[in-house]
Amino acid sequence: MRRGRFPRPDPTLLFQAFAATIVRSIVAGLALLSLCIQLRANEIQKGEYLARAADCIGCHTSNPSRPFAGGYRVPTPFGDVYSSNITPDQDTGIGRYSEDEFLRAVREGVRRDGTDLYPAMPYDSFAKMRREDVVAIRTYLLTQPPITQPRPENILPFPFNQRWALRLWKLANYRPGSFTPNRNRTETWNRGSYLVDVLGHCGACHTPRNMTFGEDEDRKLAGGAAGVWQAFNITGDKTMGIGAWSDDELFLFLKTGAVAGKAYASGPMAETVMNSLQHLSDDDIRAIVAYLRDVPPQSGDEQQPRFSWGGTINVGIAEPGNVAQGSTHAAGDLYGSLCSGCHGIDGSGSPDSSYASLTRNSTLGAATPENVVMTILTGVKAGDVAGRKSMAAFADWLDDGQVASLANYVTSRFGNPELSVTAADVHQMRAGSTTEQTVILLAGQTLVMIGAGLSLGLLLLLARRLRLAARLSGFTSAHRDTR
Ligand code: HEC
Ligand code: HEC
Ligand code: HEC
Repeated sequence: MRRGRFPRPDPTLLFQAFAATIVRSIVAGLALLSLCIQLRANEIQKGEYLARAADCIGCHTSNPSRPFAGGYRVPTPFGDVYSSNITPDQDTGIGRYSEDEFLRAVREGVRRDGTDLYPAMPYDSFAKMRREDVVAIRTYLLTQPPITQPRPENILPFPFNQRWALRLWKLANYRPGSFTPNRNRTETWNRGSYLVDVLGHCGACHTPRNMTFGEDEDRKLAGGAAGVWQAFNITGDKTMGIGAWSDDELFLFLKTGAVAGKAYASGPMAETVMNSLQHLSDDDIRAIVAYLRDVPPQSGDEQQPRFSWGGTINVGIAEPGNVAQGSTHAAGDLYGSLCSGCHGIDGSGSPDSSYASLTRNSTLGAATPENVVMTILTGVKAGDVAGRKSMAAFADWLDDGQVASLANYVTSRFGNPELSVTAADVHQMRAGSTTEQTVILLAGQTLVMIGAGLSLGLLLLLARRLRLAARLSGFTSAHRDTR
């Protein structure tokens, strides 16, 4: 009986097997899809975190309701550079940038059309950003709503408005390369190094500039500038830097911008905390602290730590000669009516220190008065980071002389009594520059003019030589012909 060896398959069993295969493939497909979605969500989340750490959002947003649409003013010693729109908009944003073009813009400072970017975009720091990190940032940016907003014209005088000249800057200061961890240090230290030197571009503000306006690597984090604002020495030096701060104080400062008895972040540092640092994980902030601890100490102008002034009210301030502008009396009245409500008559702030104490405050104890003047002019926008309060800008309410006398009053009473500003200084800072920067600008322009003059002279000389040579050879050949 052969028929029994090949029994007819049971149709229900067959159907069950078929259905099971289908269901299994659907489940596998869905799992794969959800894995892809998860991976993409992770990539977007990673990109957002990195965009925070690198503060792309702070520098590329001028109006909070139009995030990443650019138009944010970055002050430089030569004038103002405005950031570009980096939303996915096709015409005014980065919609048309390919992955490689985007990498080139962020790490090499070259736009899609091949022209060079101003280092106001800190690509000299970003040069060592990992490829996958830049790609994640791009993935995140491409999920943002496109916003049409052209970039405002930069305000730069000749010759600094010439983009080709940026080639020269790059030749002198731009170093491509990749981030290589230091094997002799801990993983935390290396993470800190990547966060400080590459993503966080702390040196863009905190490292002084050399003759060619690149970061002076020999004086790393020894104190630089952001427009008029002075970004203090944050090396390990106990007097000039942050060597005398505890790890916890540094952590608190970076996370919230406020450490009673040490410092409050205002101006560009308040923005950095608000837009970038407060969003970092505690581990990352600890990594930054570990790395900062190890930055070689650098000298500066301070005679005692910035935060150590004004524990007791300095004596001698009642003498009129000590206050450069206006009488102490008028300044005292101004302080009493405009400032003491929040900062206290004795400058000790509010008991819960939500209103900053002006004594033992690094801004008032620094060796330069710019940040005090700028705080009075522009106020403090602390966001609502850790319940910090803000301070109104007084620029529209006080004239240059009043601001100068208030600045002198608060520094002589609560901070470094050797500081002094004049109404003329305030006038210049209000306009967005310091005397030093104006001198640099003029010197730069003069040097370029002299350089151009010399090259022109050389060219003329060369042309004359050539003409002479041509004439001589013409003469000799003519001579030869007549023979
Ligand atoms: C300190 C401020 C600052 C930070 C931080 C910053 N940028 Fe920029 N960025 C600028 C400025 C200013 C420009 C325009 C420079 C110019 O016009 O030469 C610019 C230009 C660009 C461009 C060129 C777009 C174009 O076509 O003009 C891209 C892309 C870009 N930034 C991406 C980023 C990304 C991504 C980040 C974060 C990883 C970032 N930027 C962080 C200031 C900044
Ligand atoms: C856009 C410019 C800018 C950037 C970027 C910046 N800072 Fe600052 N920073 C400043 C300024 C300006 C001050 C002084 C603020 C004040 O007077 O309140 C300051 C103050 C500080 C202080 C307090 C020093 C003291 O003695 O009071 C620390 C610490 C600090 N910054 C760390 C950092 C670190 C770490 C980074 C990078 C993650 C960084 N900053 C990035 C501008 C900047
Ligand atoms: C409405 C309350 C208020 C008034 C009024 C006020 N301030 Fe402030 N001030 C603040 C707050 C809040 C901060 C910042 C605290 C912080 O960063 O968390 C601050 C910070 C400061 C700082 C330190 C900035 C730094 O980087 O550490 C100075 C200097 C200062 N104020 C001076 C003045 C002077 C001078 C006046 C009067 C013209 C004045 N303030 C009026 C609330 C006020």
